[in-house]
Amino acid sequence: MVAGRLLPTWAMLRTLSRARRTEQWAEVKSILKQRWFSVLRPSKWSSTGAIGENSKSNSQPPALFRMASGYWLSQAIYVAAKLGLADLLKDGPKPSGELAAATGADEQALFRLMRALSSTGILVHLQNDCFALSRLGENLQSDVPGSMRAIVITLGEIHYQAWGNLLHSVRSGSPAFNSVFGMGLFEYLQRDAEAADAFNKGMTDVSSMLAYAVMMAYDFSGISSIVDVGGGHGTFLQRILGLNPDIIGTIFDLEPAITKAKQRLNGERFGGRCSAVAGDFFDSVPEGADAYILCSVIHDWHDDRSIKILRNCRKAMAKNGRLLLVEMVVPDGDTNCYSKLLDLNMLVMTEGRERTRAEFSTLLDAAGYKLTRIVPTLAPQSVIEAVPGNSRRTIYD
Ligand SMILES: C[S@@+](CC[C@H](N)C(=O)[O-])C[C@H]1O[C@@H](n2cnc3c(N)ncnc32)[C@H](O)[C@@H]1O
Repeated sequence: MVAGRLLPTWAMLRTLSRARRTEQWAEVKSILKQRWFSVLRPSKWSSTGAIGENSKSNSQPPALFRMASGYWLSQAIYVAAKLGLADLLKDGPKPSGELAAATGADEQALFRLMRALSSTGILVHLQNDCFALSRLGENLQSDVPGSMRAIVITLGEIHYQAWGNLLHSVRSGSPAFNSVFGMGLFEYLQRDAEAADAFNKGMTDVSSMLAYAVMMAYDFSGISSIVDVGGGHGTFLQRILGLNPDIIGTIFDLEPAITKAKQRLNGERFGGRCSAVAGDFFDSVPEGADAYILCSVIHDWHDDRSIKILRNCRKAMAKNGRLLLVEMVVPDGDTNCYSKLLDLNMLVMTEGRERTRAEFSTLLDAAGYKLTRIVPTLAPQSVIEAVPGNSRRTIYD
């Protein structure tokens, strides 16, 4: 009991101490900064002296109106990301005219966009039409630890178009994405390379940070091989292998994602510990590993399809193997929790859903597993651990 309680602290300390000795430390520091310290430290460019600071007027429209117009802000953030404004501001404040010239935007329109974003704390409006990045806005830069630029672009493009048809999903119970794009999300991503790049890069950026939250909460000792099923470009698994030198891993995904994963592996230093295999998880997954991780995969699918994937993992896993799902868990009752909005996103984008603890337990049981524990992490996602249950023989019949 006591050992069980101490485990997360131990996993966290070990992960931190290992990370300090590697090049992954910059990313770990970034996740710690975002999670724990951001509220305590002022923005790099403080709004002292910023235009409008002394204004007493703070009249806001009714809360419901603000909520209903939330897409104004989300589209404004998307346009800033698409134009690469944060990259242009990374070395210091710049006037809006210079930024308009660099991005090919209309000067007045860009000024209005940046003024609106400054009113939300993403940029800081200084004197003389100059704008700077706030600490929040720094995450819109490309290729920095904790970058959200790619995920913001995919949210502002294919997600936004599909969400415009939410009414269809609620009336029919089927994905709005399919009615807008004429096919399912993953089929579409195999055909549109630009959309796939933004989606996969966005997932990679998010799950790269998530990997640290998982390692700080979940003890990987005792695991010698992992298959990351639906592992995308492979960054999640690479982060784990980077801090666990005794583990070997396989990234498994559809062909286009694996082509990218292989390109990324070329530059990495895993000494043959990481491989990438293309395939379809509805047919089979690579055999013989003692842990199968599925990060943000099961929430893409309805129960029947999820059970098929989970059974394929069970068939493939080594004796004494375990399954690790990294997903949000919807709390019971009327708790305010982001998982409930993400659940709507799954309704719009895929056939999937977010699940409660009881729903995970039922799903895992139907696929021949026993849910052993749910380990919360610093991120909104938890690690849902399961092992093969007793009905192994019957489920394949
Ligand atoms: C939401 S993404 C999660 C990616 C990754 N686990 C992460 O967290 O960054 C779902 C992944 O499932 C993969 N996928 C979808 N259908 C698949 C299939 N039939 N077989 C294998 N992978 C599939 C997608 O290509 C995508 O990389």
